[in-house]
Amino acid sequence: MKKYCYFYILCTLLVSGSCRRTQETPELSEEYYTGGKNGTVFINSSKAYEQQASAISDGMAFLKGEQLFEGRFVSGDGSTPFSGLGPVFIRSSCKDCHPGYGHGRRMDRYNSDEYGNGYLLVIYDENGLCPQFTGMPQTRATYPFLPPIDESGIHITWHNYTDEFGNSYPDGETYSLIYPTVSIDPSAILPELRPSHYSVAIEATIGIYGTGLLDAISENDIIAEHQKQQARSYCRGLSDLPYAKDENGIDKVGRYTYGCTRSTLQNGPGANALWNITNVTRPDRRYHYITAAYAEAMANNSQVQQVLGWGHDSIYNYLMSTNLQPEMSMEDFDDLMVWHRGLAVPAARNLSEPQVVEGKELFYEMGCTACHKPSWVTGTDAHVPGFSHQKIWPYSDLLRHNLGMKEPGARANCRTTPLWGRGLSKICTGYEDHLHDMRARTYEEAILWHGGEAAQSKDKFRRLTKQQRQAVVKFLESI
Ligand code: HEC
Ligand code: HEC
Repeated sequence: MKKYCYFYILCTLLVSGSCRRTQETPELSEEYYTGGKNGTVFINSSKAYEQQASAISDGMAFLKGEQLFEGRFVSGDGSTPFSGLGPVFIRSSCKDCHPGYGHGRRMDRYNSDEYGNGYLLVIYDENGLCPQFTGMPQTRATYPFLPPIDESGIHITWHNYTDEFGNSYPDGETYSLIYPTVSIDPSAILPELRPSHYSVAIEATIGIYGTGLLDAISENDIIAEHQKQQARSYCRGLSDLPYAKDENGIDKVGRYTYGCTRSTLQNGPGANALWNITNVTRPDRRYHYITAAYAEAMANNSQVQQVLGWGHDSIYNYLMSTNLQPEMSMEDFDDLMVWHRGLAVPAARNLSEPQVVEGKELFYEMGCTACHKPSWVTGTDAHVPGFSHQKIWPYSDLLRHNLGMKEPGARANCRTTPLWGRGLSKICTGYEDHLHDMRARTYEEAILWHGGEAAQSKDKFRRLTKQQRQAVVKFLESI
């Protein structure tokens, strides 16, 4: 009896659900399918960034990969799940930096234990990154090793900024802007690693969802977009295309990270993070993410020698070995990549609301689309055949531009950040900060930081009425 009852309720739900859908779906335009037909999910809850695209067939691998992203690694020899953290590391879990699979949160201090702190440190001088540190500097270590940098000596200071318009729109409305500077006390750096002079910046996370679809865009289409931009006189971006090695060591056009420093997902920021954030070794990475300067410092440290009962050479050779026991299997890594590729993009919302329609018209009129290229058609995707030939809506040209920002840190030339799904950030991550260092607390502030190549677009935005400005933000929130 009970069973029939449930059956009846289920049928009613299905019928009413499908009725509702048939009432709403006929007029859904292609722009709602942000990640294309096979890469979009119609969910706008707090889990909207965490969904499996319908194009992914191996649901079990997807779930296993998800666990690796969400889990916390611990020290150990790799014989138990999630062990192998260290000897030196950046975070013990991916999710800490990508809360709810999105961007991190604007922070006043650098504490790698704080959930939502998605910041990476960048330590550089006029020649580039300081070679004493790993490219992504480490601030944690497993006993008895010492962290290269003591986090309590890292200072993030937020300053008020007054722009050339005295922080007011032509209509008199005022706004406030802030930007960060970062310093590390010399005494917080291991003496052996301390550079004679250095600058420090922070870089925030980027959302992970949809990166599998970006991988499916053909390299030739990105090159063609770059050529198109180079031929015009505005918003041209950098003249040189960035190249980065793919998983086979072949140079390909960079499309990931704020600097376009990674070209393919298989050798992308996520694939690398699993190893270099945690220092968990695996068969294709039987060595540590470490610098020789750090290994030398630890090898000379009498306390490390005493605790381990090893001499200088044994410590140094262990830290720098290229033949370590793998702590993670290739199967685990493959699962991570199934999950990583398969994260769908949440569908756009409310696109037919009059205010959103108005905001969209203004977005196009102001020339935002010169860099925030609304759509791409993917090429043939050998990894996920279902992602092939999809029209997707990331609102990015995947190219680097200079927005002439005050104190941009190490990121004056920055990739146009994809805007898809960002409107759900508050719901999915709890935060809605924007830009490469999270200096913008709202969409409006993000637009007001657009100078340099985007100065004309920003000026057009400034001259809108308050109601029009709100419409633009409403549109951004909807895509
Ligand atoms: C220390 C914090 C931190 C951790 C932990 C971390 N990331 Fe990131 N991630 C970042 C930052 C910062 C960026 C932007 C980097 C840049 O532009 O150089 C980023 C960028 C990315 C991107 C690029 C998105 C794009 O559009 O270019 C992907 C994908 C990604 N991370 C996946 C992962 C995965 C998967 C893991 C775990 C295996 C992980 N991340 C762990 C900080 C982190
Ligand atoms: C010249 C190219 C260019 C133009 C034109 C442009 N943008 Fe951007 N936009 C960028 C780049 C590059 C970034 C990333 C900057 C950073 O993080 O430092 C960005 C970032 C953003 C962000 C923040 C994304 C995030 O979540 O971090 C928003 C919102 C945005 N743009 C909206 C607009 C709007 C609205 C317009 C039109 C008024 C516009 N942009 C015009 C290049 C451009």
